[in-house]
Amino acid sequence: AGAEHGCPVTDPTAMAEAFDAFEGPYQLDPAEALRWSRDQLPVFYAPKLGYWVVSRYDDIKAVFRDPILFSPRNVLEKITPATSEAQEILKGYDYAMARTMVNEDEPAHMERRRALLDHFMPENLEQQQDMIRRLTREKIDAFIDSGRVDLIDGMLYEVPLLVALHFLGVPEDEIATLKTFSVAHSVNTWGKPSDQKQIEVAHDVGRFWQYAGEIIEKMRAEPEGTGWMHHTIRMNAEIPEVVTDSYVHSMMMAIIVAAHETTSLASANMFKTLLTHPDAWNDICADPSLIPNAVEECLRYAGSIVAWRRQTTAPTTLNDVDLPKGAKLLIVQASGNQDERHFEAADTFDIYRDNAVDHLTFGYGAHQCMGKNIGRMEMRIFLEEVTRRLPHLRLSEQEFDYLPNTSFRGPDELWVEWEPVQNPERTNP
Ligand code: HEM
Repeated sequence: AGAEHGCPVTDPTAMAEAFDAFEGPYQLDPAEALRWSRDQLPVFYAPKLGYWVVSRYDDIKAVFRDPILFSPRNVLEKITPATSEAQEILKGYDYAMARTMVNEDEPAHMERRRALLDHFMPENLEQQQDMIRRLTREKIDAFIDSGRVDLIDGMLYEVPLLVALHFLGVPEDEIATLKTFSVAHSVNTWGKPSDQKQIEVAHDVGRFWQYAGEIIEKMRAEPEGTGWMHHTIRMNAEIPEVVTDSYVHSMMMAIIVAAHETTSLASANMFKTLLTHPDAWNDICADPSLIPNAVEECLRYAGSIVAWRRQTTAPTTLNDVDLPKGAKLLIVQASGNQDERHFEAADTFDIYRDNAVDHLTFGYGAHQCMGKNIGRMEMRIFLEEVTRRLPHLRLSEQEFDYLPNTSFRGPDELWVEWEPVQNPERTNP
């Protein structure tokens, strides 16, 4: 069938057999790696992973739309099962990561989401805006005269982390430790660590768990504290059957990664994408009103969450494929985001695209990302500040490294350069 579209003939059964989520084409470019699937076999079983892969926009959306039949209970499960040695290590730390928000079933999920939604409403985010801009400006001040910086190290890692901690009301100590913890949590949940690596990761995850518990204790000692986790802790006292103890501890650990790593990676992907499309970059430098849609197009074209999970609670069919009860699904948003059936010229990056915002990077439906407007606001402010102060920015020659895993995607480093003598604020201060 591939030949009809002018692409090389592929044998879909062989492609499904060979599908590897941790190395090869999927790690290089998840959307491109599943083009054959979108065209020929949009729902397939990947034996190496033990998951059914879903690659078309409409099918992914249908799965997101029904959290009863397609339960999110496996969202934070270790995709590579722990070795018995790693399990023992985790036990030693009393590790008990359980249901948070993102992996909770109905009806408990909606009740909890409603009880904890207020902080995320746009009218309550205004106060974040000034802080994000101030932090962003300080970071740019620190490197603007240098001519070369790793944007992640210089800005995109720490600003989302500080914004997240502030939003949550979590004290800002141990920022360096949190980096190790976040990577360990990502590898533990979405990666394929070797048996040896599992041991190291288990210690970091165990320490992260204990650290989350200590933060909660510190925060409980400040009953008047502000921020979302303080609110959560108060709701835990008020309605413990809805906002449970287990939830509070699990969420404390998960949210640091959910609120921060996602945004850092999405922002890095955004700068990388725009700087490799100089026409788009020049257009937003000339007209900042294009920035909001450019952010959406970056989230569509190069989002930071490329795949998410669900598990069937009953036998069903998806796009004519029979799925048994308990089937584990890898729904690949990056592939849906480049599905020609929904997006015209889907593999073209186009900041003027009128339906860019339809992307699935924040998920969809009952569990759709609660922090999407915070993430967007940060990405928008990063672009506003950088395009204004460094319009002559360009990408340095470099090889990009990515942490091998199914879901979190973004380069480890992003080197950019410019001529400081041409900084607009030198001639026009
Ligand atoms: C859920 C992506 C930023 C908090 C999710 C989900 C995705 C996602 C894919 C699951 C959606 C679903 O199952 O339908 C992202 C991306 C971000 C980002 C790509 C940045 C660009 C944030 C931030 C916060 C946050 C900044 C918090 C401040 C949450 C929460 C949930 C969630 C609490 C669980 C919602 C629920 O299950 O009801 N996010 N996220 N996220 N996200 Fe985000």
